[in-house]
Amino acid sequence: MLSLNLKLRHWVAFLVGALFLVLYYIYHQYAPPYAIYDALAQSESRASLALVADRNPPKYVFFRQLQGAGFNNQVQEVLLYHHLALLTSRIYVYQPLIWQPRRASLPLSAFLPGVTTESITSAVFDRVCPPSEVTHVSLNVENDIWEHAREVLSRPDKCMVVDDWLFRWTFLASPAIHPIWPSFQHYLSLHFKWSAHILDIAERARPTEPYMALHLRRGDFEDHCRGLASSQTGFTTWATLPGLNDAVFPPSLDPTNYTSVMEHCYPSLRRILDAIDSQARANPHINGLHVLHDGAWDHPLVYLQYFKLEAAVKSPARILRAGWKGGPMKVVTHSGTLPVGRGESDWAVAVDVELAIKASVFIGNGYSSLSSQIVALRLAKDRARTADITLL
Ligand SMILES: *[C@@H]1O[C@H](CO)[C@@H](O)[C@H](O)[C@H]1NC(C)=O
Repeated sequence: MLSLNLKLRHWVAFLVGALFLVLYYIYHQYAPPYAIYDALAQSESRASLALVADRNPPKYVFFRQLQGAGFNNQVQEVLLYHHLALLTSRIYVYQPLIWQPRRASLPLSAFLPGVTTESITSAVFDRVCPPSEVTHVSLNVENDIWEHAREVLSRPDKCMVVDDWLFRWTFLASPAIHPIWPSFQHYLSLHFKWSAHILDIAERARPTEPYMALHLRRGDFEDHCRGLASSQTGFTTWATLPGLNDAVFPPSLDPTNYTSVMEHCYPSLRRILDAIDSQARANPHINGLHVLHDGAWDHPLVYLQYFKLEAAVKSPARILRAGWKGGPMKVVTHSGTLPVGRGESDWAVAVDVELAIKASVFIGNGYSSLSSQIVALRLAKDRARTADITLL
């Protein structure tokens, strides 16, 4: 009896020890790089103070922005607002990125140094623009939202705070954003830049072979798509650009047709493979595939679909039937295999985006704002070709 008790105690001690080691490992693997974030936040303040001391006569604009939306939605909005601020000769006032998983505020320069250069933090804005000197404006109007916003922000007031939310989903999904594209494309080519941390990891992660990137938007998307099909909604943001019509994988999208919306918004694996086959036939030199996906513990089925895709693009018999001229894919990677080191996991999403920008071919989902953002960033690069883009 006594020895059984002793054995049990040993086991419990062993299990507690093992659990502790696992937790310790997880903590170290995922602990955010607080020291880097603190140093960046401090240099953001210093640079902002230097800029306000220097500029004469400065004009500033502070926008109310999404707080705690998905990473990409925040990035998309930051880039659009920064662009608008520059267009109207104002210094952009930036806010930290709200990191949903931890509800933490991360310095924007850890992600988008192209935005924070020549811009100021909201804390410094509060110092140079006390409430008595602030002009509050609202930008939403029925028509010509963009023109109206440019006109208002071009006024001489030194400190402007925009109180309403300019880039609503309905606006972003409408043709009203098309007039923004030419200047936004130019803006992206000049000012969009990931931080060195992100670029370093992306360099480590890049397949050694020419590769295509596929955005497999799954997870919670099916319900979302049903809603979009019922409300007869088309593609979002830059995926709606007329120049991309030829990039849409046939049959073309008919937003008034429920089945058609579902086919594009939540494509079957069959359809996704057809799109891969089509690009593989056109680009026989490509023999790598990187899959961006949202698989996680709460969406395990995404992995199942990923493994089916991986098997299909690696199968010599299948690709022969599908008419590929090159061989099967030699390298297949996905969001879960990124070589993200200790303390680097906050950057993983951005690394995925960078890999999709650099890919020879990108296959994305026109209903996803992440895919649309990737498309925009690809089109902002020199020698961009719409033929290298497929929208499912
Ligand atoms: C709706 O879309 C589906 C899928 O593309 C297509 O098969 C069907 O013919 C379309 N229906 C109509 C009425 O156009």
